[in-house]
Amino acid sequence: MTTAALDAATLEKLISAAVAAPSIHNTQPWRYRLDPDTSTIEVRAAVDRGLPHTDATGRGLHVSVGAAVFNLRVAVSHFGWEPVLRILPRPAEPGLLAAVRLAGPGSADRRPRPGMPGSPERFDLYDAVWRRHSSRFPFSEQPVQPEVLAELTRAAAQEGAHLSLPGPAEAARILRLTADADLYTAADHDRGEEGRSWTREDASDGMPAAALGQRDLTGQVPVRDFGGRRPGAPRPAAAFEEHPVIGVLATAGDGPADWLRAGQALEHVLLVATDHGVRASLFSQAVEWPDLRWALRDPRGAYEHVQMLIRFGYGPEGPASPRRPVREVLDAGPADTGAADARGERRT
Ligand SMILES: Cc1cc2nc3c(=O)[nH]c(=O)nc-3n(C[C@H](O)[C@H](O)[C@H](O)COP(=O)(O)O)c2cc1C
Repeated sequence: MTTAALDAATLEKLISAAVAAPSIHNTQPWRYRLDPDTSTIEVRAAVDRGLPHTDATGRGLHVSVGAAVFNLRVAVSHFGWEPVLRILPRPAEPGLLAAVRLAGPGSADRRPRPGMPGSPERFDLYDAVWRRHSSRFPFSEQPVQPEVLAELTRAAAQEGAHLSLPGPAEAARILRLTADADLYTAADHDRGEEGRSWTREDASDGMPAAALGQRDLTGQVPVRDFGGRRPGAPRPAAAFEEHPVIGVLATAGDGPADWLRAGQALEHVLLVATDHGVRASLFSQAVEWPDLRWALRDPRGAYEHVQMLIRFGYGPEGPASPRRPVREVLDAGPADTGAADARGERRT
């Protein structure tokens, strides 16, 4: 492939797809740059968009960027290239979190090939990128079909993570830990302020009121309140489903590469769910407090580092949250450091 084949309009679509990914508090903590010599899109952390109180380790930032990298892989293969991913490609530049090279000739051939994201069942998840939204609303009591749940666990496994689907008693225990986390956070001034500062209207990032959804009347499903609503705009309460379906996404390790892997697994799971008409909302409150995160894990399992809780079900799609325009996240000009080397290249 030559870079001439990647025109400006297609590059814009690739970056828009990456930006459509979920991110912690909708901070969109990423930057992109095309290296035209190697046809590689570099993805960097936007550390100025981090959450120093809520996410002091940067775990949530890496998970967010991992989700964006997955969308980028989906879009690259949708437009006919093979995405060749390297995560943390230059140890000397830790802020460069991923590089996705556009390999192979552009082609309209959509058949699954090695390296293309997507399970064998559904190899082009591009449409789902645009239809996926967090849905913080009550779901119906309709159970999610076992074959769909099995496909979600396969999607996580394909990215090197593990999705477990505990039964009702364990799901209820996990949600109680999440409610405990909300109490911790309510007592933490700095985290509360941070949450409130990202709930805002008329911005291209953060959480607008319409996206915050509803509050569970029983308190069993502790939908995050992001620091509490401002006076005069109480969040409406409603009865949520009696038996929430909760997925626990975990990894074997717990460093930046594992977090990036978890983010890709998260987005792969969410896009497959979307393709099936299954809605989802995320709960990271308990993961953000070390003692509660410890209590979330399955001590018998090999994947003991919990990265995200996901609630699945059938219900409203959830409103689209705003996104920053491509021109604000795409850097022009030369790379900060030398050209990418080919060592350690991994086909996804
Ligand atoms: C690492 C991470 C943590 C998140 N934690 C929560 C959470 O605790 N509660 C919640 O409702 N949403 C959570 N989200 C979802 C984001 O708030 C959401 O993706 C963002 O606001 C954009 O909205 P969208 O998913 O509808 O596109 C999280 C997302 C990520 C990637």
